[in-house]
Amino acid sequence: SSADITRLQALIRTIPDFPEPGIQFRDITALLADADGLTLALDAMAEGLAPGDVDAVVAVEARGFLLAGGLAHRLHCGVVPVRKPGKLPGPTLGVSYALEYGEDRLEMHQGALRPGARILVVDDLIATGGTALATGELVTRAGGHIVGFRFLIDLPELGGAAKLAARGWSPRALLS
Ligand code: PRP
Ligand code: HPA
Repeated sequence: SSADITRLQALIRTIPDFPEPGIQFRDITALLADADGLTLALDAMAEGLAPGDVDAVVAVEARGFLLAGGLAHRLHCGVVPVRKPGKLPGPTLGVSYALEYGEDRLEMHQGALRPGARILVVDDLIATGGTALATGELVTRAGGHIVGFRFLIDLPELGGAAKLAARGWSPRALLS
């Protein structure tokens, strides 16, 4: 509902020039710390999906991790982490990508997805879409089938959601 959206909006603050000049950083820590806010956010992010629709939630380090467990619990599936380089102990698949502030690389364990597994990708925010596109690439290379992308926040002026949509990867976000 629009009251829920207003409530969530009030729990997110924008910090100018963090962590670098020009970045309008969306701080979700107050939302995460609020029991009703977190429940509201997770319920809304799971909307339109039911247990049985998704074989795994693929979650992006680090803020994506904070939402993924609750979402996977609602959908009765497990979580597969996508991590920054050198964090996963086993053999990995990796993709390098450009971030709004800097360059990075993401990794996922080889064999983490069953062939044809139906995957929901979860993160807190989509900006340029570099992270989400790299994650979609990893899921695809791992043999997964992307059901959708769910975000708390979209920054549409940065074009990430449009890039996902252009790949046929139906992104959804609660707030912009
Ligand atoms: C942020 C955010 C997304 C990504 C979005 O993560 O949580 O993962 O940036 O930006 P993009 O659409 O331009 O790729 P960040 O890299 O700051 O890492 P963190 O979650 O570990 O803080
Ligand atoms: N705000 C704006 N741009 C970003 C953010 C954010 O919180 N995270 C990654 N790119």
